[in-house]
Amino acid sequence: MIKQFRFYILGQASSIPRYILEQIILGLCSWVPSVLGIGLRALAYRSIMKLDGTPAIESGVRIAHANGVRLGKNVYLDQGVYLHALPNGITIGDKTFIMHHTMLHVFNFRGLPQAGITIGKNCFLGEYNVIRGQGGVHIGNDVYTGPMVQMVAVNHVYQDPNRSIREQGITAQGIVIEDDVWIGANVTIVDGVTIGRGSIIGAGSVVTHDIPSYSIAVGTPAKRVKDRRELSGNHRQDAGVFFGALEEIRR
Ligand SMILES: CC(C)(COP(=O)(O)OP(=O)(O)OC[C@H]1O[C@@H](n2cnc3c(N)ncnc32)[C@H](O)[C@@H]1OP(=O)(O)O)[C@@H](O)C(=O)NCCC(=O)NCCS
Repeated sequence: MIKQFRFYILGQASSIPRYILEQIILGLCSWVPSVLGIGLRALAYRSIMKLDGTPAIESGVRIAHANGVRLGKNVYLDQGVYLHALPNGITIGDKTFIMHHTMLHVFNFRGLPQAGITIGKNCFLGEYNVIRGQGGVHIGNDVYTGPMVQMVAVNHVYQDPNRSIREQGITAQGIVIEDDVWIGANVTIVDGVTIGRGSIIGAGSVVTHDIPSYSIAVGTPAKRVKDRRELSGNHRQDAGVFFGALEEIRR
């Protein structure tokens, strides 16, 4: 029983005193609504996380291993975001927005040295994204993802059919998303993949191999159908191109 209790606590925080401190701060502040709550959390979370500036953290953001989380300047975490930083951490760069119910879970219960999640500056992760960081997930600057994107930096070993998959361990090589990449809705990116700078992944694709820089890649498995450097216009632009206040804020 004591063993299970200890396993649970160390899954939530780096030590029992840290667990108590983090639970007190999160319990007092995480539910407070409105801008009042955002202001309160920007001050109080400084005692449990590394904050480079003043983040806007909505109510109902769940955080475990808070001392492994670093937030850059003007980071926005929407309601229902879940950060689990065990133990190598989660770093989110300046002016990056993480939209509601997105989960960043390092998921390193096996002590992998390469585990962790880093996200660069000026990124936007859409709603209900899931990132599993056992092999390390490293996202550059200016990366945009649509809703329901999944990056899973882990595979189970299954070569021995006489043993359960559960008993055979995992492999975890990591995922790299270079700068200025746009990943469409419902894309899945599996372990070991690098998506090159400036690429676009079409909605619903499953990315199983590296994607060279400036590709437009679509389908399952995702294949390069165009090179962004060789485009001459796009039929959708005829209907209008729009910009918003977010681009202004990020200047
Ligand atoms: C990939 C995308 C950007 C289109 O790029 P594009 O350069 O304009 O490409 P086209 O529309 O000319 O399509 C090129 C080919 O790929 C196919 N294609 C385009 N998107 C595809 C997708 N997501 N999956 C499979 N095939 C796709 C097209 O049917 C076309 O095939 P064809 O030549 O046989 O007709 C767009 O289709 C897309 O998937 N956008 C993502 C939308 C989204 O998720 N938005 C969320 C907001 S962040």
